[in-house]
Amino acid sequence: MTDGPANASETFLTLLSAHAGMLDRFLQHQEALLAQDFGRALERLLETRREFEQHVRAEEELFPRLFADNEVQGTPLDLFTGEHKHLRELLTAFESATRRLDRADPAVMRRLIELIEEEALWKSFFLHHDERERNLLYPAFDRGTADAGRQELLSRFHA
Ligand SMILES: [Fe+2]
Ligand SMILES: [Fe+2]
Repeated sequence: MTDGPANASETFLTLLSAHAGMLDRFLQHQEALLAQDFGRALERLLETRREFEQHVRAEEELFPRLFADNEVQGTPLDLFTGEHKHLRELLTAFESATRRLDRADPAVMRRLIELIEEEALWKSFFLHHDERERNLLYPAFDRGTADAGRQELLSRFHA
């Protein structure tokens, strides 16, 4: 292992902006929920999930290449894949709940409140995940790829 990259533009940390993008997309979904535009709310949610899946796939593909012992600085990689799984399951549940929303339903406002409250959990969980990756995983990505074609690996995130 060597020190991190000299050029900040080459660091994996810049890719964490993808997290901000996903969060923004998720907020667009919630804005559409509040406007009771459920078609748009579903669209934005599906986009959030697509971005999430692409990002997570790129992250998890790096694990076996960089961390042969299945851990990063004493933290098991299962922690990250477990969080991905949990975040994914929640998004799937929100999709079902969004699909069930119907403006003609007399209880629609209560269902909306329930959904938005459940979604608040996803947001706080996602922010914890971001923090853990920012402090632990991404710096390790940088160290682990100092001599191993970082640019090639970085390009996968943009694919
Ligand atoms: Fe991430
Ligand atoms: Fe992640």
